[in-house]
Amino acid sequence: MEKIGNQIEIIITEDGSSSLRRKDLKEGYHSTFGAMAESNHIFINAGLRNIERKPQINILEIGFGTGLNALLSLEFALKEKQPIFYHTIEKHPLPNEITSKLNYGSLLYMEKELETLHSIPWEEKTKLNPYFEILKTAKAAEEISYKKDFFDLVYFDAFAPEFEDKLWQKEVFDKIFQSMKNNALLVTYCCKGEVKRTLKASGFEIEKLPGPKGKREILRARKRSK
Ligand SMILES: C[S@@+](CC[C@H](N)C(=O)[O-])C[C@H]1O[C@@H](n2cnc3c(N)ncnc32)[C@H](O)[C@@H]1O
Repeated sequence: MEKIGNQIEIIITEDGSSSLRRKDLKEGYHSTFGAMAESNHIFINAGLRNIERKPQINILEIGFGTGLNALLSLEFALKEKQPIFYHTIEKHPLPNEITSKLNYGSLLYMEKELETLHSIPWEEKTKLNPYFEILKTAKAAEEISYKKDFFDLVYFDAFAPEFEDKLWQKEVFDKIFQSMKNNALLVTYCCKGEVKRTLKASGFEIEKLPGPKGKREILRARKRSK
């Protein structure tokens, strides 16, 4: 994997939570209006809280990055006593010098958990506690063959289509659609017309929802088998 540590800068967003910015792409990992507020709004509230309770919720995340969505999902699993299996994909894993400076652990009183999410090995399923099992895969998401009819929820949180053109393609959404159970949801911050059309072409029903501060809309897509 290409090393990107020297291309990253740490910032503090408006809600006090940290985030990162890729200097080479001039692209942030989260909204500058609030990284934690944004992740909670899109992935936890519009996504996870809309999945019915079951013996295990299977989540696929495209773009592990800072681990913020994973940490918030782990917090949910512990508070709600809802077992979660979390498969996260990351093309450019971040070095420890960067992840150790993120403040999500101290904000959520989950410092040990955030450190564990980053320090556990890649490519090995790890059970952190009775409610949360995680597998981290260090690869480009478009290159993976996903298990069929398995995921209840997808967090599509990679960089925008202008930076990751191979990812936001119909062939990739087709694979992800097949990896999802009937009625499963996909949530993303990206509401571009092209993305909506591609998701529809792959078979998703899409819904626009109000965005977090600084963003008008977000997208939620549902797999409804014909
Ligand atoms: C917008 S950031 C958000 C990451 C993360 N969810 C977070 O809260 O920090 C996008 C992440 O997707 C990763 N990424 C970009 N393209 C990818 C791809 N094709 N496959 C997997 N990960 C990708 C980036 O390296 C980056 O870590």
